[in-house]
Amino acid sequence: MDLTGKRVLVTGATGLIGGRLIERLREHPDVSIRALVRDSTRADRLRALSVEIVTGDITHPETLPEALAGCHIVAHCAARVTERGSWEEFWRSNVEGTRHVLEAAARAGVERFVHVSSVAVYGLFPQDHTDESSPYQPCGNAYCDTKIEAEKVALEYFHQRGVPIVIVRPGIVYGPRSQHWTIRIIELLKANRLVLLGRADGFCNHVYVDNVVDALLLAMTNDDVVGEAFIITDGRATTWREFFGHYARMLGRNALPQLPAAPAKALLRLSGWAARLRGHPPPLSPKVVDYLQHRALFRIEKAKERLGYAPRISLEEGMRRTEAWLREAGYL
Ligand SMILES: NC(=O)c1ccc[n+]([C@@H]2O[C@H](COP(=O)([O-])OP(=O)(O)OC[C@H]3O[C@@H](n4cnc5c(N)ncnc54)[C@H](OP(=O)(O)O)[C@@H]3O)[C@@H](O)[C@H]2O)c1
Repeated sequence: MDLTGKRVLVTGATGLIGGRLIERLREHPDVSIRALVRDSTRADRLRALSVEIVTGDITHPETLPEALAGCHIVAHCAARVTERGSWEEFWRSNVEGTRHVLEAAARAGVERFVHVSSVAVYGLFPQDHTDESSPYQPCGNAYCDTKIEAEKVALEYFHQRGVPIVIVRPGIVYGPRSQHWTIRIIELLKANRLVLLGRADGFCNHVYVDNVVDALLLAMTNDDVVGEAFIITDGRATTWREFFGHYARMLGRNALPQLPAAPAKALLRLSGWAARLRGHPPPLSPKVVDYLQHRALFRIEKAKERLGYAPRISLEEGMRRTEAWLREAGYL
C-alpha cells in the first residue's frame, strides 16, 4: 500500500514509539496524521509538528469513533507500559483498550491496523532462538500476560471481522525519549544506583527506536504480511553489561559496580521483606538477577525475509544519537 493520500491514526502519540512514528510520518508530504491523545496538556511536541490532535482514551470506547472517522491506517501504540499497577489496570488498557480501538477500526473499515505488541509475549525467560513459531509463554507478569491477551484480541478481529492486522513485537526499545531503557538508566547511573547484579551476561535484545519505526512503516505498506506477526530487534547478541556500559561511558565511567548473583539475590530478598514490613511494594524481585543472566536471543529472520526489515541503525550509531539527545535534553 502506498501511503500517499492516506490518513493515519496513531494511538499512544505522546509516547516513545508513537511520537517517533509521527515525526517520521511527517517526512512524508502526502500523509495526514491524526494523533490520539488522552491529555492535551502532554501534546506540545505534537502541536509543534502540526498534526491533527484528537482527545480520547482507549479505555473509553465512546471517545474512539470520532478519532477513527476517515482513517485508512491505524498504528496502535497506546498501552500501559510500566512495571507497576494492578492486574485490572493492565487488563483495562492493554486488552480491553485494544479491543475498543479494534472495534472502532472495524466499524470505520480501516485498510491496515498495525498492532504494537512486544517480545514480552514470550515471557521473561524466553527460549534461545525464539522466533514467531514459538508459543506464547504466560509468566504471571501482568504486562507480559496482557500483551499476549491483546494479541489474541487482535487476531480475533483479523479472523472474525476481517480487520487487516499486522503485529509487530519489538524487543527492548532504547533511544531518545526512552523512559525505561535510556532516561532511567542514566538517572540510576548518576545517582550511583546502577549495580550489575550477577554476571549480567544475558542478552538484552535491544532495538533502536528508529529501527522499530522502520518496521512499523513496513507493516503499514507491505501488502503480503496481513495476519502476520514479526519480532523486531537489532538482531545482535549484546549483553546487559555491554548495554549499560555504553551509558556508563557517556558519563565518563569505564567500569560499573557489580555484585555476584548469590549476595545480590539475598540482598533483594531482604530488602523485599523490609519493604513489605513497612507496607511498601518490594523494590526489585530477586528474579531480576536471573533475568540479567538469561542468554536467549530472538530471531528476526522472518521480519528480514517477509517484511523487508533490516536493523539500519547499529548499536554504536544508536548510542551516539542517544547520547547527543541526552546532552541536548540536559540529562548529561
Ligand atoms: N518501550 C519499550 O521498550 C517497548 C518494548 C516492546 C514493546 N513496546 C510496546 O510499544 C508500545 C508503545 O510503547 P512506548 O514505549 O511508546 O510506551 P510509552 O512511551 O509509555 O507510551 C505509551 C502511550 O500510551 C498512551 N496510553 C496509555 N494508556 C492510554 C489510554 N488509556 N488511552 C489513550 N492512550 C493511552 C500513553 O499516553 P499518556 O502520555 O497520556 O500516558 C502514551 O502515549 C506499547 O504497546 C508497548 O507495549 C514497548
